[in-house]
Amino acid sequence: MIALGCDHAGFPLKEEIKQYLDSQNIAYHDYGCYSPERFNYAVSAQKACDAVVKGECSKALLFCGTGIGISMAANKVKGIRAAACSDYFSAKYTRAHNDANCLCLGARVVGAGLAEELVSVFLNTEFEGGRHQTRIDQITDIENGKKLY
Ligand code: RB5
Repeated sequence: MIALGCDHAGFPLKEEIKQYLDSQNIAYHDYGCYSPERFNYAVSAQKACDAVVKGECSKALLFCGTGIGISMAANKVKGIRAAACSDYFSAKYTRAHNDANCLCLGARVVGAGLAEELVSVFLNTEFEGGRHQTRIDQITDIENGKKLY
């Protein structure tokens, strides 16, 4: 199950991506917003990311105008590693090397075609583990207030 969230600027792209997920038979839960009415992205970011942290969803796909504001909100949720991506390489390697569990897309940055490619590679790339796990563990340590230096 994939968690979806957006603000008003991200709403149209989220709807496009829902059609893509339907075509791939990928199940999702939409945590809003549900119209182009003005909506603050932190609310849907927190709802969708809480579902990931609780294990109700495996990953989140979030959408705002730039992908940045909603990624900042997402990264405040403990256990979330969110990446705002607008190129294929980053969307792939934030899974392979960062074990990102949240992809954030900017509806004013990427078109629907590219967004589908980014979602596809993000959902289909495995974390490589190994030396990268050490770095993820350090990110978690920072989250838990540990000093690394
Ligand atoms: C909304 O106008 C816009 O600021 C928001 O979607 C996002 O781009 C913020 O990072």
